[in-house]
Amino acid sequence: MASPLRLLLLPLLLSCIVLLSHQVKCDGVDEEDSLLQGINTYRTATLNLMALTKNANAECLADEIAEQFKNQPCTNTTGSNTVPGTEPNFPDYPKLLAKCHLNVSNTRDGVIMPACVPSLVPSLVLTNFTKSQYSDKLNDTKFTGIGIGSEDNWIVVVLTTSTPEGSFVTAQSSPDAQDSTGSASKISLVPYLLFLLMGFIFHL
Ligand SMILES: *[C@@H]1O[C@H](CO)[C@@H](O)[C@H](O)[C@H]1NC(C)=O
Ligand SMILES: *[C@@H]1O[C@H](CO)[C@@H](O)[C@H](O)[C@H]1NC(C)=O
Ligand SMILES: *[C@@H]1O[C@H](CO)[C@@H](O)[C@H](O)[C@H]1NC(C)=O
Ligand SMILES: *[C@@H]1O[C@H](CO)[C@@H](O)[C@H](O)[C@H]1NC(C)=O
Repeated sequence: MASPLRLLLLPLLLSCIVLLSHQVKCDGVDEEDSLLQGINTYRTATLNLMALTKNANAECLADEIAEQFKNQPCTNTTGSNTVPGTEPNFPDYPKLLAKCHLNVSNTRDGVIMPACVPSLVPSLVLTNFTKSQYSDKLNDTKFTGIGIGSEDNWIVVVLTTSTPEGSFVTAQSSPDAQDSTGSASKISLVPYLLFLLMGFIFHL
């Protein structure tokens, strides 16, 4: 007698699974991973340099910058096509830094590289970094770390150095805030929620 209700809830369960798994993949995480891999392959195979290591604070800043850009359309003067020296300045840049536990003293030597590519087509995204004005930065041994963020058609790469002026270490001196536990816990939440949901439905 409970089965009609279960049948009714099944589509709900399925749509939740779709919704939740989409949630995890949202914010262009696939595109970001693919770009990271592409950049590191370019660094090691083409340039004979060390791969860049992920920096969580740089990734946080990249996300914040992408958020600032997201409503701007792609043109031949935006992103990697920007004429050097005409990069946009964000009035609330210090606020964005603070949000990511950073300040100007530990980010000065880093570099922020935004690119605009409709639908973030992976091959075009990669060449927007390897075959543009940004390629010199990728070929610079002083950069050792990387953070990537994206929103809509915008993807932002932030490079960090191993010097104090570009380390992107947390300003409030807590080194363990450096790792990316944030995204890990976001992902592991999904099976847990599904478990709860299933438990709830089969309980009926
Ligand atoms: C950008 O595009 C506009 C119109 O689409 C064109 O007139 C201009 O020459 C282009 N500029 C560059 C640098 O390609
Ligand atoms: C960068 O992406 C744009 C799409 O917005 C594309 O037209 C352009 O060819 C790309 N540039 C490079 C150097 O790959
Ligand atoms: C990378 O930098 C090295 C040393 O400055 C230079 O010899 C080489 O041509 C550069 N490679 C590219 C692809 O720009
Ligand atoms: C930035 O953070 C460092 C490390 O916590 C601190 O020593 C420095 O005074 C801060 N600089 C600014 C401009 O807030």
